[in-house]
Amino acid sequence: MREHRLFWREFRENFTTTGAFLPSGKALSRALARFVRNEKTGLRVLEVGPGTGSVTRQIVARLPATATLDLVEANPAFADWLRQRQQDDPRLAALGDRMTVHNCYVQELAVGGKYDVIVSGLPLNNFAPDVVRSILTTLTSHLAPGGTLSFFEYIAVRRLRAIVSGSQQRRRLREIGEAIDNVLAGHEIARDRVLQNAPPAWVHHVRFSDSVDKPHSGDAG
Ligand SMILES: C[S@@+](CC[C@H](N)C(=O)[O-])C[C@H]1O[C@@H](n2cnc3c(N)ncnc32)[C@H](O)[C@@H]1O
Repeated sequence: MREHRLFWREFRENFTTTGAFLPSGKALSRALARFVRNEKTGLRVLEVGPGTGSVTRQIVARLPATATLDLVEANPAFADWLRQRQQDDPRLAALGDRMTVHNCYVQELAVGGKYDVIVSGLPLNNFAPDVVRSILTTLTSHLAPGGTLSFFEYIAVRRLRAIVSGSQQRRRLREIGEAIDNVLAGHEIARDRVLQNAPPAWVHHVRFSDSVDKPHSGDAG
């Protein structure tokens, strides 16, 4: 209940960045965590926009014993919540210093090394196109060669919003769609349709074989 109350409060106070009035359900969280697998020693996992930790709990349930998990959360109230859970939730406490909470925008994240798996819970359709392009470029630039990026969008949300929006909003949504398509093109290795979520969502999984392969922010829009 406390978790839902915090989420609702942040939805009202920070609508654009929070993007949802409830934490993601189990089905969506599981789909986002799908590529956290025991494939190599020292797997590095990054979760972007963990909120109150719905997806984090699914990642942690799959996290190999030698893996590390970095969480990047822009909202200080959510970052504090997660740090508290590191103390009192046995599943998170068990990770010790293998889990780190960074309270900053992902575009400002300064860490050494690349990640094998990146899971993003960011509400991309809420942002300006240049912010979306910059976020997608940031995410792909943090990805190790052969690593996987998983992110979601609510099904048909751009189409539905465009119907009730003016021309400026329609243009914004079209540019976001182009930026997302640019990342998906030729790189999407799997897609999950999650109907048991309110609202239903697509989860996209993309993989880039090397850094040359990655799209740049200027490519889209
Ligand atoms: C839709 S909520 C998802 C929360 C959680 N992953 C879930 O599924 O319940 C989006 C989260 O992304 C965070 N966020 C938004 N923009 C961000 C950014 N640029 N960098 C890091 N976190 C961001 C918000 O504060 C919020 O916690």
